[in-house]
Amino acid sequence: MTMKNPLAKTAVLLAGMYVFLTWILPLFTAPLPASLIYLYLALTVAAAAIFYTMSGAGLDDFMGPIGRFLTGEGHAGATGTARLVVFALFPLLVGWQTYAKLAPSDMPPAENRTIHPAPPGEFVGLANPFPRTPGNIATGQGLYAAYCSPCHGGNFDGKGPASVGFNPPPANFSDPGTIAQLQESYLFWRIKKGGVGLPVEGMPWKSAMPRWEKELTDERIWKIIMGEYAGAGQSPRTWEEEE
Ligand code: HEC
Repeated sequence: MTMKNPLAKTAVLLAGMYVFLTWILPLFTAPLPASLIYLYLALTVAAAAIFYTMSGAGLDDFMGPIGRFLTGEGHAGATGTARLVVFALFPLLVGWQTYAKLAPSDMPPAENRTIHPAPPGEFVGLANPFPRTPGNIATGQGLYAAYCSPCHGGNFDGKGPASVGFNPPPANFSDPGTIAQLQESYLFWRIKKGGVGLPVEGMPWKSAMPRWEKELTDERIWKIIMGEYAGAGQSPRTWEEEE
C-alpha cells in the first residue's frame, strides 16, 4: 500500500521525528530537553501544513480528513464509534497530562545528597561529659521515648508513627550505616541544630529533623545520645578506631 494521504504522511513523519529525537539522537549526543522536542514536532506540523496547503487540492487532502472527523461526516458504524471513543479519551488524556505535570513528586532530585556532611568546627571532637551509668542511660532513654521515638521509633528503627511521609526518612539508628558510623560529637551537633542546621551539601532534600537546642539542654542531649546508642545496640565511633 502506498501512502497517498498527506495527513497520513505527516503522521508518519512526526512519529519518525519523535523516535529519532527521543531515542536515536541521544545515542550520539546529549539528549534534548522535552520542550525542545515538542518545539521541533510543532515546527514539523507547521511545515507540513504549509507544504500541503500551497494548492487548493492539497488543502482538501490535508484538512479534509480532519474536518470530516470533527463533523462526523462519513463516520458511520465502527468508525463512528471509534470517533466517539477518541472524543471521550482526549479530555481524559489532557487531564491526566496536566495532573502528571502538576502533582508533586517524591523522587529525590538528581543531585547527590551528602548524608553525613562535616560538622562545624566547634562541635568536632567534643566528648560526652557524662559517665555511662545505668542511671544516665535510663534518663536518656526516657527522654528519647518522649522526644525522638515519634519519628525514630520506639525500636530505634526509624519507623515511629510520625515517620511516614518524610523524605528523607528519619534515620534508622539500628542500621549500621547511621549512628554506628558517627562520633557522639556528631550526634550532638545534629540533634542541637537539626535539619535546618545542615550545610549546603546536606541539601537539597528538606530534612524534618527538628532543631532541639531550644527544647533540650546540653545535658539532656548528651544523655539522649547515650540512651540512643544503648537502645539501638550500637556504640559510637571513637578516635582510636579511626587511627
Ligand atoms: C519530626 C521527626 C523527627 C523527630 C521528632 C526527631 N528526628 Fe532525628 N531525624 C529526622 C529525620 C527526617 C532525619 C534524617 C534527615 C537528617 O539527617 O537530617 C533525622 C536524623 C537524625 C540524626 C542523624 C543520623 C545520621 O545518621 O546522620 C540524629 C542523630 C537524630 N535524628 C537524632 C534525633 C534525636 C536524638 C531526636 C530526639 C531528641 C530526634 N532525632 C527527633 C526526624 C526526626
